[in-house]
Amino acid sequence: MTAAAVIEAIGHYLPGRRESNDELALRMDTSDEWIRTRTGILGRARAEPGQATSDLAVEAGRHALQHTGASVDTVVVATTTPDRKCPATAPVVADRLGLGRVTSFDLNSACTGFLAGMSVASGLVATGAARGVLLIGAEKYSTIVYPDDRGTAPIFGDGAAAMVLRAGTPDEPGAIGAVHLSSDGSLWELAHVRAGGSLRPVPDPDDPHDAYLRMNGRATYRHAVAEMAASCRLALAARGLAAHDVDRLVAHQANVRILQEVARELGIPGERSVVDLTDIGNTAAASIPMALSRAHAAGTLTGRERLLLTAFGAGASWGATVVTWPHLKPHPAPHLAPHPAPHRQVHPTTEEVNP
Ligand code: UT7
Repeated sequence: MTAAAVIEAIGHYLPGRRESNDELALRMDTSDEWIRTRTGILGRARAEPGQATSDLAVEAGRHALQHTGASVDTVVVATTTPDRKCPATAPVVADRLGLGRVTSFDLNSACTGFLAGMSVASGLVATGAARGVLLIGAEKYSTIVYPDDRGTAPIFGDGAAAMVLRAGTPDEPGAIGAVHLSSDGSLWELAHVRAGGSLRPVPDPDDPHDAYLRMNGRATYRHAVAEMAASCRLALAARGLAAHDVDRLVAHQANVRILQEVARELGIPGERSVVDLTDIGNTAAASIPMALSRAHAAGTLTGRERLLLTAFGAGASWGATVVTWPHLKPHPAPHLAPHPAPHRQVHPTTEEVNP
């Protein structure tokens, strides 16, 4: 039987600093009410200025590794915001975690990066190239979001989450099966950073936005709903499953309205859709493992739940897969950061997000 990559442990790290909607409204033309009702986000995690993506990744990796004796021979970091253009962030993370000489590389598929990483980890385990993979989604979007851009600054947050995958069998809970992945490069302009790469190495000094993320929010929203729903249908069909077989929909945490619409399109009751962005924002490649790790830490994922994971991100890229959550050792969240706006409710009501 071919070996399967099986979820062995999970962990996450959130920097302690939070930026509330009211703080954003002090420096840009927006309001707490607009952000809350249009995105469901009340605050976002922000790394300290000196904290790099690798710092977040190391903490998340450490949290996941604390809960397993499995040995790791491969480290994959899914990130859109690496420490440097060269070298990759993963070798630095592996070294700082004391993992020695391991296979390590980065993977960039923006918000779809973690699902792409799960697919890569499965392949490495299936061929025997890896027996223990530490897969980390880590992002410091505050480095590519223009601080005063009301189209992106309210949405993205910094953070990292990690999963340890070991070699096991395909019929075990936690085994990663086929991951449906797709992309359409003709949509690259939906969300992109114009300068800083080989095409345009030096930002235009007259355009302060040149080295920062530009996003066509409305179009991204439309494609995100359509492609995540379509990808989920393919992932379910590949397993011979229907929407009613899904216990939890864990979609990339872009916007609570997107989460609701994807669930509605699929006919999955809204309460089965995991909402994890309220206090931390959209953490891009980290958002799916972040939602899983925080649900596990909170005791709302206990094992045997059938999860439908899906993501959409820049590229455009998207994907989905089905996994049965394994029974993992309980672990507390590593950081209980203060809520950005304690006087507000944590989960927006349906009326608030669908006025
Ligand atoms: O992580 C993966 C990729 N990213 C996503 O999936 C993000 C997907 N998109 C979204 O989440 C939403 O499109 C946004 C939250 C970015 C925007 O929400 P929207 O409901 O699609 O708003 P919109 O872009 O259609 O803008 C509606 C209005 C516009 O004003 P006019 O033209 O109607 O006068 C915007 O200029 O809201 C205005 N607006 C704002 N107003 C206050 C846009 N951003 C803001 C803001 N505060 N922050």
